[in-house]
Amino acid sequence: MTTLTELYEARVAEGRLKPDEAQRAVLPALERIRAALAEPVKRGFFRRAPEPPKGLYLWGGVGRGKSMLMDLFVESLTVPARRVHFHAFMQEVQTRIHELRKEGVEDPIKPVAKEISDSVRLLAYDEMQITDITDAMIVGRLFERLFDAGVVVVTTSNRVPDDLYKDGLNRQLFLPFIALLKERMEVRELASDKDHRQDRLSGAQVYFAPADSAARAGIDALWSELTPGQEETLTLHVKGREIELPRYYNGVARASFFTLCGKALGPADYLKLAESVRVLILEDIPRLSRQNFNEARRFVTLIDALYEARVRLIASAAAEPEYLYVEGSGSFEFERTASRLREMQAADWGT
Ligand SMILES: Nc1ncnc2c1ncn2[C@@H]1O[C@H](COP(=O)(O)OP(=O)(O)O)[C@@H](O)[C@H]1O
Ligand SMILES: [Mg+2]
Repeated sequence: MTTLTELYEARVAEGRLKPDEAQRAVLPALERIRAALAEPVKRGFFRRAPEPPKGLYLWGGVGRGKSMLMDLFVESLTVPARRVHFHAFMQEVQTRIHELRKEGVEDPIKPVAKEISDSVRLLAYDEMQITDITDAMIVGRLFERLFDAGVVVVTTSNRVPDDLYKDGLNRQLFLPFIALLKERMEVRELASDKDHRQDRLSGAQVYFAPADSAARAGIDALWSELTPGQEETLTLHVKGREIELPRYYNGVARASFFTLCGKALGPADYLKLAESVRVLILEDIPRLSRQNFNEARRFVTLIDALYEARVRLIASAAAEPEYLYVEGSGSFEFERTASRLREMQAADWGT
């Protein structure tokens, strides 16, 4: 049987991972769960199913390797498990609750929890984050049922449990959930001083001009470096609307200029996007001018939002920043954007 530490060390030996003491320090916590789940469940008339192991709540700063460790852990499991982005999962749960309500089910959380606990023994949630009261209330009741059914939960988050839904509306209603998390999960910090994502990008070309096939290839390479073979849809909720970014994984979103600036999106959308991703890959920025003034204006707003949130930008464009918008009204205002685009290419941007 391969332990998680063995798996980790094998990747280090292959050069796929750099050794990180803080990561090594949390491996035993995950190994404890892996080993407990690998025990065969002996069911019998006189035997009760064994107590499920406590889960793990792994928190820490961005780029520390939380998602990577969680993926490695899920890969190592032999029991039915599911790894899902927390936000996408909540989305799915709400849809299911909605359907069941329509069918006249009075307390839909029960059957939803049952469907889940019948199909998996472990749930791995990446990026747990609670931002609205509906999610806050649903998640509390759902988790209670999942824990009672013996489902083990492993989750990553940028915050300690006590800071979840911080300053949220009616937060007192959410406190029992925090207590429940702390009771059913071991809480550990991934206290690495290294931002590995930054490390992977530093020194890499992040601005490609012109946006030709070489640019595409360069971006494809960065994309697979950052999101090894996996992607999911990121849904942003802004003022009751939903914006879907179909190519997202682990803090990295990829979209074309047209998707983000060719449609009627505004500052609130861009702010939400900027706070939801760590890296944005924006492809095919055209030359800007009076002719595509609305797109240009949105682009300026988008870059401002990304800049303020210190999001990493990887882009392909028709020209270098200084030559993107050179003629006509608006070109003067674009100077600030061009300079920001330049600054955001620095190797240590975003740290
Ligand atoms: N020890 C490591 N060596 C090399 N790359 C790593 C290491 N740990 C993480 N990474 C990479 O760094 C990036 C950020 O890691 P990630 O797990 O997404 O961080 P977090 O989830 O904590 O924000 C990912 O591309 C990941 O594969
Ligand atoms: Mg992560």
